Amino acid sequence: MLKTHNCGELRSAHSGQSVTLAGWVHRRRDHGGLIFIDLRDREGITQVVFNPEVSGSTHVIATELRNEFVIQVVGKVEKRPAGTGNSKLPTGEIEVIAGEIKIYNASKTPPFYINEEVDVDESLLLRYRYLQLRRATLRDNILLRHKVIKFMRDFLDQRGFIEIETPIMIKSTPEGARDYLVPSRIHAGKFYALPQSPQQLKQLLMVAGFEKYYQIARCFRDEDLRADRQPEFTQLDLEMSFVDEEDILGLLEELFTSLIETVTPGIRLIKPFPRMTYAEVMDRYGTDKPDIRYGLEVKDISTVLADSEFTVFKSAIQNKGTVRGICLPGCANYSHKQIEELTEIARSCGAKGLISVAWMAGDGQQDVNSLQIEKIKSVAVKYLKAEKLKELLASFKALPGDLVLIAAGDKGLVNKILDELRREMARRLDLCDPNLMSFVFITDFPLFDWNEERKIWDSTHHPFTAPFESDIPLLESDPGKIRARHYDIVCNGYELSSGSIRIHNRALQEKIFSILGYEKEEIEAKFGNFLEALEYGAPPHGGIAPGIDRLIMVLTNSKTIRDVIAFPKNQAAADLMTDAPSTISGQQLKELHLKILDE
Ligand code: AMO
Repeated sequence: MLKTHNCGELRSAHSGQSVTLAGWVHRRRDHGGLIFIDLRDREGITQVVFNPEVSGSTHVIATELRNEFVIQVVGKVEKRPAGTGNSKLPTGEIEVIAGEIKIYNASKTPPFYINEEVDVDESLLLRYRYLQLRRATLRDNILLRHKVIKFMRDFLDQRGFIEIETPIMIKSTPEGARDYLVPSRIHAGKFYALPQSPQQLKQLLMVAGFEKYYQIARCFRDEDLRADRQPEFTQLDLEMSFVDEEDILGLLEELFTSLIETVTPGIRLIKPFPRMTYAEVMDRYGTDKPDIRYGLEVKDISTVLADSEFTVFKSAIQNKGTVRGICLPGCANYSHKQIEELTEIARSCGAKGLISVAWMAGDGQQDVNSLQIEKIKSVAVKYLKAEKLKELLASFKALPGDLVLIAAGDKGLVNKILDELRREMARRLDLCDPNLMSFVFITDFPLFDWNEERKIWDSTHHPFTAPFESDIPLLESDPGKIRARHYDIVCNGYELSSGSIRIHNRALQEKIFSILGYEKEEIEAKFGNFLEALEYGAPPHGGIAPGIDRLIMVLTNSKTIRDVIAFPKNQAAADLMTDAPSTISGQQLKELHLKILDE
């Protein structure tokens, strides 16, 4: 190699050795006679000193150096003079006294600082992604990603899993998003779909008898992008035969625990991972992706307020809705402006408003029994009797100084509002420990969700998920009540993995498709081959697919998933570095039998 050591490697034990280093000029300081360079490569930074008395010609070349020049230096390792060490740098005890230098390449002045992570417009960072990747945060995220994937591969290999690649150009697999499509030149008017996940393929590998499969699988989904979503992302996709839920969840708990303890030892875990049913998380947190690092649990006060005369509550209850809220400790003295900000969050979810009940601390009050009603600041005071207010506050176990926020209306809407408020308040109150990974297993999801707009049942997970055996009779009578053998792994408020035990019987699979509204011919056209495979000795099987990008995003406390992907797309699904998507030539369109409509 063009170097003998990397830039993170040298210590005082190397003093006196002659070394060759190569890398980028991270920072340059000209102290009159001496020139100091922080030389950077993937592994770290080493200080290099150019002294005209050591080599006049080398010093002259060093005067030309600017940030991001690529150079090679030959020199001698020396302990830094007393008092000039840098304890923040692993190589901070030493410096390399340069004898020779070679400039491999100059660099234009980068469009943003690389040695300081000053915020700049993200589109500029994405346009010059290869420069942003030189910054420490992104570099470390990508290095961590490598370690995580390597760990997963070794872990699964040791447990008898086989890594098998599946094709990228396939027929559509329903995962709930739109497909990315590839037009066929050979088959006019026909398209391949890019996999939303290798779901059917991995099930077919079970029919094929591989028993334990995994893949670091690329998935493609054309859906609305959010901070934790990319159109193109990576799953640790896995599937096993002859297993039940416990086998899969046990394996994943062991995987996540040993991975985090090995790869990111500074991060703590709650062990064993708590388990909750879907009904329980919806009740306690109003979401199926709760962040359980903190409390602020949701309380249902519909029964307390059942006979209330306050129209907001009354009409919600009469319309089969709900009244629920959260209690924020010590927030009673929130200003009008602060309450208005929280109300705005509720409005952005679709609510008309939010009811706040502030219980001002003061003289002798300890609990609701000693409550002085004049200490309550809320519009509800006009409409609720003192006893009701006490009952309301008692439901939240509120104390003087607390602020209760209440939402009323449709159940889904109320849950959405409280989930948003819970997350926002946890941020404001600094309740999210960044060094804690708080996993939860969520089980017993409903098999179907009612789609009010289209008046049909949708799969909560996907159509290949098996129902609880004991709930199968409900397929005819009450599909909404059927529980699925579906499980999610949630961590710090993000859904990290989803999976299920699958249907391995043709008749049941066909029945599920028909409940989902597929006509017989459509089932045959879309899933005929898959259904046929189920007739050739398909074993019982199940699996799961942790999202790798999301896992690393949570592990690194990154604000967006883009920070853990080398070359991500922006919020509008565009790659600003290569300028994709882009137009294609008339000739290509013709070959693909395509015409662009002017709209
Ligand atoms: P699901 O669709 O729930 O299940 O996806 C599994 C996990 O993949 C990650 N994920 C995403 N990550 C980034 N960007 C996206 N757009 C995105 N969409 C999903 C999440 C999610 O938990 N085939 C099934 C799995 C199975 O049943 O085995 C599936 O894909 O972390």
